[in-house]
Amino acid sequence: MIDFQDRVAVITGAGGGLGREYALLLASRGASVVVNDLGGSVHGDGADASAADAVVAEIRSMGGTAIAEHSSVADPEGGAAIIESAVDTFGRVDVLISNAGILRDRTLANMAVDDLRSVLSVHLEGAFYVAMPAFRVMKEQQYGRIVFASSGSGLFGNFGQTNYAAAKAGLVGFMSALKLEGAKYNILVNAVAPIAHTRMTEEILGDQAEQFDAASVAPAVAYLASDAHEHTGEVWSVGGGSVSRVFTALCEGYFKHPDREGPMTVEDVAENVADVRTEDGYIVPFSLRDEFAKLGPKLYS
Ligand code: NAI
Repeated sequence: MIDFQDRVAVITGAGGGLGREYALLLASRGASVVVNDLGGSVHGDGADASAADAVVAEIRSMGGTAIAEHSSVADPEGGAAIIESAVDTFGRVDVLISNAGILRDRTLANMAVDDLRSVLSVHLEGAFYVAMPAFRVMKEQQYGRIVFASSGSGLFGNFGQTNYAAAKAGLVGFMSALKLEGAKYNILVNAVAPIAHTRMTEEILGDQAEQFDAASVAPAVAYLASDAHEHTGEVWSVGGGSVSRVFTALCEGYFKHPDREGPMTVEDVAENVADVRTEDGYIVPFSLRDEFAKLGPKLYS
């Protein structure tokens, strides 16, 4: 039985949708939960404290422990206040599920600067503003589990979502570097790309919505946030009953030794484009070092 006894979890955007499911599951397994939510619209307008308050009431009614927090993740003071409320109330921060998000879907041709800034500031900057103070507490404790909400849109692309996709792919970059900084303090950092029926996906999922119950995403996120999980720097695609790892691979490619075979030409690339593009012989680098490690034997043998 995987539990969160004596663990404190901060979940942003937990007043509805996926975040609410994460909060309910972790609380049902013993976590003390900070339910953060600004409570605005799906486009990021307005604020409403009742979203977070209702989830807290739900957790308490089932015998769990939770407090509500209504700051916006999109400003540094909000991020600091969220983590402060966890430390002031419960004394620690063991788990951060960085989940708050909004949508401003537009094609690039129609995008206003504010559509870009608001999406980047909630998803990407917001993740930083909460993770920065959380990481300091986790480092002190020598324990932490961070899960970022990425998206298939950022990993694979989706029409009309360049702003959102850039933010969600940015979170994978953030995670990939932070995992290295967290490793020696027992801080594991992972990400999920969920697929779930929430207000955010009402239009995208249409009549398939029923297959993508948000509650079915929560177990994988809870697992990533638990003591039972040992890996760091992974992205998992989760939804519709499926949990699978997504990774960035480096393929075998084309190689021409700069000293022995001379400088690379445009024609070399053109003639060997099939080798450049082959998916054969790939490795999954854990960090930038592995990219060099792959090249080293070719260059220096
Ligand atoms: P949702 O709209 O139901 O939940 C997002 C929550 O974040 C809302 O309760 C909202 O009030 C809160 N929020 C928005 N801006 C905030 C801010 N500045 N500060 C604090 N809270 C704020 O949507 P859903 O689907 O539950 O999304 C959760 C996360 O999962 C998002 O990051 C989303 O991008 C991501 N995601 C969801 C997918 C899905 O299929 N539902 C697919 C891929 C990613």
